[in-house]
Amino acid sequence: MSNWIDSAIGHAVTRVHGIASVVTAFPHITERHEWRTTPDGVWTGGFWAGLLWLSYERTRDEKTLELAVSYTDRLLPRVNDTHNHDLGFMFFPSAIEGWKVTGATNYRDAALQAARSLAGQFNQEAGFIPGWGFFGGADWSGSVLIDTLMNLPLLVWAVQQGADPSLMTVVQRHTATALAYHLRADGSVFHVYKFDPATGKPLGGDTYQGLAPDSSWARGQSWAITGLANLAAMTGNDEYLQASQRVADYFMSKLPADGVPPWDFMADGPAEPKDASASAIASYGLLKLHRITGEHRHLERATRLLEALATSCGNRSGEGGEGGVLLHSTADLPHRLGIDESTMYGDYYYLKSLMALKRVSGHA
Ligand code: GLY
Repeated sequence: MSNWIDSAIGHAVTRVHGIASVVTAFPHITERHEWRTTPDGVWTGGFWAGLLWLSYERTRDEKTLELAVSYTDRLLPRVNDTHNHDLGFMFFPSAIEGWKVTGATNYRDAALQAARSLAGQFNQEAGFIPGWGFFGGADWSGSVLIDTLMNLPLLVWAVQQGADPSLMTVVQRHTATALAYHLRADGSVFHVYKFDPATGKPLGGDTYQGLAPDSSWARGQSWAITGLANLAAMTGNDEYLQASQRVADYFMSKLPADGVPPWDFMADGPAEPKDASASAIASYGLLKLHRITGEHRHLERATRLLEALATSCGNRSGEGGEGGVLLHSTADLPHRLGIDESTMYGDYYYLKSLMALKRVSGHA
């Protein structure tokens, strides 16, 4: 099994070096295979720093280390951002990883501050961290995104590092809200669930990036699988584990024969764009489920997803090529952004999962 994994990792790391040679700010998504960058890393800057840390783990070359440090440092002013539910995405792959690799305590301190900034966004009355505050001219303070589950491990980590234990209450209460309202009877999840922000009264399911309020936006399913699996691994909570497995069962039952999900499971068809990033994210959650349970089916599923990605979505264009590590991701179809392109989250989870699979398959 190791040959295709090694080859896919090799192509991925080469492409990371290629991206690094053409950007001077944080790559976000591609349009026509050219990176759109942002000066502050919006919500995806942590994935770029994370890709550099992963690449350094593989190559141990000084230039990649310098870049990983430099981009992590550039994210640090964002630790006080109290209008951003994505602080886990921003600081787990960057500052926490950088602290683990270098021992730099300012990275640990920064991640602890980011955790406090995230917990400060918790709505005590309603019982959730809202997805956005004001965005696109609208008030989103009652909208809860399934994606937020991915950010809660930052709080668990912070408590494990000695932060105020009340941060764990935020994790428990937000996750309870998500399990009660986002998770549907068939194991799929809503992308967004709306509440009255003053009282917490549930108003109904919705979407922003999916086909319809009650459809199954593929990446939302993946955020749920992996967010809940990460939380289960860190807390030992069986309810999170069972819920992650339910969403994973749903995801795999809807997967088309080519093994790459459409952008929304209710928009399946030959003309519909794929979302390779959804598969990359889900594969990481499945590997986590395998680690927690020891059940082989999770490893088989992760391998199936990653092999399909390596075969049909891995970018083999080399260091001088264009685009990201992973092709055929869709950032936001309803708003016509990054359709059949590359995304930082797809690229990051693809390489992270491949490296995790390599470790599991005994060829680290
Ligand atoms: N978390 C936003 C997205 O997946 O596009």
